[in-house]
Amino acid sequence: MLNVHPTTDLVGEEGTFSKKKSRGRISFAAKDTNLLEWKGDILAVGVTEKDMTKDENSKFQNVFLKTLDSQLNGLLSEVSTEEDFTGKAGQSTILRLSGLGTKRVSLVGLGKGPTDSSTSAYRSLGESVASLAKASQANNVAVALASSQDLTPELKLTTASAIAKGTLLGSYEDNRFKSESKKLALKSIDFLGLGAGPELEKKLKYTQDICSGVILGKELVNAPANVLTPEILAEEAVKIASTYSDVYTATILDAEQCKELKMGSFLAVGAASTNPPKFIHLCYKPPTGSVKTKLALVGKGLTFDCGGYNIKTGPGCMIELMKFDMGGSAAVLGAAKALGQIKPPGVEVHFIVAACENMISGTGMRPGDILTASNGKTIEVNNTDAEGRLTLADALVYACNQDVDKIVDLATLTGACIVALGPSIAGIFTPNDNLAKEVVAASEVAGEKLWRLPMEESYWDGMKSGVADMVNTGGRQGGSITAALFLKQFVSEKVEWLHIDMAGPVWNDKKKAATGFGVPTLVEWVVANSSS
Ligand code: BES
Ligand code: MN
Ligand code: ZN
Repeated sequence: MLNVHPTTDLVGEEGTFSKKKSRGRISFAAKDTNLLEWKGDILAVGVTEKDMTKDENSKFQNVFLKTLDSQLNGLLSEVSTEEDFTGKAGQSTILRLSGLGTKRVSLVGLGKGPTDSSTSAYRSLGESVASLAKASQANNVAVALASSQDLTPELKLTTASAIAKGTLLGSYEDNRFKSESKKLALKSIDFLGLGAGPELEKKLKYTQDICSGVILGKELVNAPANVLTPEILAEEAVKIASTYSDVYTATILDAEQCKELKMGSFLAVGAASTNPPKFIHLCYKPPTGSVKTKLALVGKGLTFDCGGYNIKTGPGCMIELMKFDMGGSAAVLGAAKALGQIKPPGVEVHFIVAACENMISGTGMRPGDILTASNGKTIEVNNTDAEGRLTLADALVYACNQDVDKIVDLATLTGACIVALGPSIAGIFTPNDNLAKEVVAASEVAGEKLWRLPMEESYWDGMKSGVADMVNTGGRQGGSITAALFLKQFVSEKVEWLHIDMAGPVWNDKKKAATGFGVPTLVEWVVANSSS
């Protein structure tokens, strides 16, 4: 079933996706040592605006800062006054010291301090720690909070986890395609005063597992279409299955096998490309115990989308970024990698990607062609650039045939969703209120932003065809909604289903890099459906 040829275009004869690794492993330790005794490169202290208030003698009221300040002969209060460091979110200051266990002390602002959404402040603290460490080429850092004694044990866990996530992802740089790059110096992070013991260690390991999935997600999306072809994507999926062979089996279908399954809709999209399509299916089964819930994660896997004959032209069409059109599949495979390490009990999970490339050639589908999907429904292609839904149609039918209870699909499906929600929020669509709640809850734990949009059935009128069961695009208005209504045609009524349109958050324009969006939410959702 496997048929793998590494591409050789850009990066020489061994030029596969993951030839050059750009990450080193960072280790975590949770310690209850006194921070004044800690030895290392940087001691970073998260402080709120309240922590930074001083008494009439310009001395800190916060006990922790008071002690640290007196150790430093008042340097900390002096510098914070001079630099007007008040603990606002995003502020940081760093002191070079001598004669102490730590070479540097840094204060990092947390803003107003603990609120419901403070995990994002702690994640930013981690990101600041990463950039401080990078600037001074630190090998080891310790992180503490001036007011950690106020946190409940439960909050200490989520706080340490949020800081860890920020540091890990903040220190990651994708240098695989650069001829020169600095090596990451940061090797270890110690958490001080946030507890210690097996529960915290377990939580930090879980965080690390998720981050490794996010990083894989980023690398898959960042890899250009001449490196990451459908075949290489399939190869990466197989690698996950063989790395965690205790829980995974992989099935890769080639075009011939997809034809046997009558996937006329998917195959039409890939028909113009010289890079053959691959249908990817990983199956997760827990190492022990019985299965209570069966889930499927389906990701759009367009390794490139030029639009086809309805070619992407004009300003703002983003054709040069369309390597990211496999962001849904990257989220699915990133989640697979994380879950291969977490190994949740009681759930079976199917990871499904219909991977191909939307190109132009004499063998490609034409506007006006009529396709038959694997559930027998026919589609008149009135726009070859609405290709994602054509691939997802057959992928969703396949997922339903795995006898699953619930399906979540993710896709960089419509530019309209970016217009509606902007670059950092994904749209979600589902007829099922319960599943919407589940996935939103998972996204809140994960720290990713989702917003539910309506599946307005009356808009289906615009999707009627004169000659087939449906067309593949409606008008310009409500484009994300008609796309979701199209997908619904391929989901069995017996299966709960939710669609995530992640066209906006797949990519960070400022950083010119992928985000790894979707991985944390998917992992949290699967874990919430497990019996752990
Ligand atoms: N991959 C695009 C959606 C997209 C566009 C994602 C811009 C991120 C940024 C998708 O295949 C597409 O081309 N959709 C069309 C649909 C239209 C033809 C109905 C779109 O959004 O323009
Ligand atoms: Mn398209
Ligand atoms: Zn697309």
